[in-house]
Amino acid sequence: MRTIAQISDLHFGAHKPMVVAHLHAALAAIRPDLVVVSGDLTQRARKEQFAEAALFLERLETEGLRLLVVPGNHDVPMHKPLQRLFWPLRRYKRLIAKERSTWYADPELAVLGLTSAHGLTVKDGRLTSLQARSIGEQFAAAPNSAERVLVTHHPLVPLPGAEDGEIEPALRGAGRALKAVKAAGVHLVLAGHHHAHAVGIAGPTLSIDPAVMVIQAGTATSWRRRRTPNSFNLIRLEPPRAPPGTVQVEEWISEGAAFSCPGSRRSFARSAGDNGGWAASMPSA
Ligand SMILES: [Fe+2]
Ligand SMILES: [Fe+2]
Repeated sequence: MRTIAQISDLHFGAHKPMVVAHLHAALAAIRPDLVVVSGDLTQRARKEQFAEAALFLERLETEGLRLLVVPGNHDVPMHKPLQRLFWPLRRYKRLIAKERSTWYADPELAVLGLTSAHGLTVKDGRLTSLQARSIGEQFAAAPNSAERVLVTHHPLVPLPGAEDGEIEPALRGAGRALKAVKAAGVHLVLAGHHHAHAVGIAGPTLSIDPAVMVIQAGTATSWRRRRTPNSFNLIRLEPPRAPPGTVQVEEWISEGAAFSCPGSRRSFARSAGDNGGWAASMPSA
């Protein structure tokens, strides 16, 4: 089994220091195989905000935790048009990406992070045709036995936003990226951006490929949230042998002096049939 802790939308500069400390404590106790950071590490891409984010990541690494990080739209400087156009992620690359890889693979798990943030819009994301092609190329290098997971900041399908009843659009280029995801045998896609926890599988309101599940994380540490608490996702994966893969998704929320998982724990299994689709395998705990 493999465990992924997905933390997202940290927004250093608009963060709650106590919640950052609680998040560190929770991750150090859980000790997941991989911590995925799905973008928006800062509020305004300022140097001091990146420095605080970098310190937080380094502390996790000091605990022996392995990280995979992608940037979000807030990691592109908002008010510097030349930088946005020509070097939108220069500061992110220098202070956060550094030597960190956006690829992880072992016999049970393969994870690829792609950058959906860019400088041409303030908020929206995209994946280029080159990036879509890289999905197939990169996962071809993963062991056959590994569950394949793609990480982007902006979701690949329309998913609930932070307001009640609100559905936010998918990133630009989602159609070809989803095609590449399916061809590469990727069944799990992780994203953040909308500051709302959600699990998207094919159904009457979401017409995506049945074999692809999209897991969206809330904001882990920012006060830039509306009615939902700070949260992160803990994802437990059984490898896709016989029977096909299962995944348990837990939403850990910040309550009082710690993160805990009081109720939102859902399990899904992928069928062995033709469509290999995900379905809930037991009711919420
Ligand atoms: Fe965000
Ligand atoms: Fe975002």
